[in-house]
Amino acid sequence: MSKRHLTFVCQNCGAAYNRWQGKCEACGEWNTLSEEGSDKPAGPGRKPGKGRLFQLQDLAGDAQDAPRIASGIGELDRVTGGGFVRGSVLLLGGDPGIGKSTLLIQATAALARAGERAVYISGEEAVAQVRLRAERLGLREARVELASETSVEDIVATLSEGRTPRLIVIDSIQTMWTDTVESAPGTVTQVRGSAQALIRFAKRCGAAVILVGHVTKDGQIAGPRVVEHMVDAVLSFEGEGSHQFRILRAVKNRFGPTDEIGVFEMTGSGLREITNPSELFLSERDLGQPGTAVFAGMEGTRPLLVEIQALVAPSSLGTPRRSVVGWDGSRLSMVLAVLEAHCGVRLGGHDVYLNVAGGLRIQEPAADLAAAAALVSSLANAPLPADSVYFGEVSLSGAIRPVAQAGARLKEAAKLGFTGAVVPESARAEAAGLSVNDIASLTSLVADIAQRGNLRRGGENGAQEG
Ligand code: TYD
Ligand code: MG
Repeated sequence: MSKRHLTFVCQNCGAAYNRWQGKCEACGEWNTLSEEGSDKPAGPGRKPGKGRLFQLQDLAGDAQDAPRIASGIGELDRVTGGGFVRGSVLLLGGDPGIGKSTLLIQATAALARAGERAVYISGEEAVAQVRLRAERLGLREARVELASETSVEDIVATLSEGRTPRLIVIDSIQTMWTDTVESAPGTVTQVRGSAQALIRFAKRCGAAVILVGHVTKDGQIAGPRVVEHMVDAVLSFEGEGSHQFRILRAVKNRFGPTDEIGVFEMTGSGLREITNPSELFLSERDLGQPGTAVFAGMEGTRPLLVEIQALVAPSSLGTPRRSVVGWDGSRLSMVLAVLEAHCGVRLGGHDVYLNVAGGLRIQEPAADLAAAAALVSSLANAPLPADSVYFGEVSLSGAIRPVAQAGARLKEAAKLGFTGAVVPESARAEAAGLSVNDIASLTSLVADIAQRGNLRRGGENGAQEG
């Protein structure tokens, strides 16, 4: 008995159903199912059991090592793992206006200048608009091949002619459509069908293909969650609206690391690489103010120093406010709980705000200690020493746990002129010329700060006065 093809597809996650229902059981979203033409049945009609024979190969054969195409933009190559891999497909996601098109026109221009064939296909902008941007970026004379097209079949046919392009940019995948699928452009089925066709083309001709993907308001790459599984790498381009910094991050990478970041600054003439981000993130410090601590972090293989700012103020609300930008809200709750439970710091009547300077987003637990130091410093109204850095993971028991790559963190701090470090005990061996204050528990950090400021602990509610 042959089953009818499923035709209701969730526009959020791509799950398919054979009848309509209000809620998608796969992702839990409501009203996201819409009817779409079914994909064609896989493969041409073949009799069952009559497959084509193919050659199986050894693992140890001629390792076709992944030859890479360096873009020449160092921060971009760092994130991809040393350049675009031939025949691979990369998805670049990011909010509208963050600079995806700018980054990619700069990358294609850099390759074209190096004598490679680089193609930029825009489904959103007219050729004249792309040219205008190129002019602003001072890239007019770079020999990028441009087109404003949306039909995948036309694009594949055109690019199959002549010398194989090294890099093909498709801006964006949501605007593409393919004949093989009957739904409207922008639907999950179309996006998936178009991506499939472009991925097949990339593997066949050996070009690196970059697909631009839009991001919805909650940060997902719109529609094509499915595309994330199909491509070789997913990069996300992020930034805070009010800052000029842009951070490129690998979310998935079959051929490279996923923890490296690339840092750029959006200027009047395009994106500029920031090769020493620590200097940038520390450039506007409020020296001598309570509530700030410098965290010596790692982003991939690169150490990155950044200021963590906290404000702890008496609250007039029944449930005090907890607000955090650039860090994980649940880690903040954990640090606050440890401070209350083990260090006698009463925060129940205080609003707490935590901010990572410069629009950076920190994911490491190593930032616990710096966050705790900033919080206690604000509560006690006692500035921390301006020439010290902090790192260490705080456990639920209040112990300070070791973190990876302590040596690299301390070396970077020394390079930027810091002279002290408050760190886990295990980091003492790697002092790098800093005067290291190694602490075993959060209690000793709190006691240290309490000595300098006016922090009352224990049963008393509230902490500072005047
Ligand atoms: P764009 O690359 O079009 O963003 P996306 O493709 O991600 O939607 O970038 C648009 C923004 O960048 C726009 O707000 C203007 C700004 N911009 C500059 O500040 N300097 C420049 O040189 C360029 C080209 C754009
Ligand atoms: Mg764009």
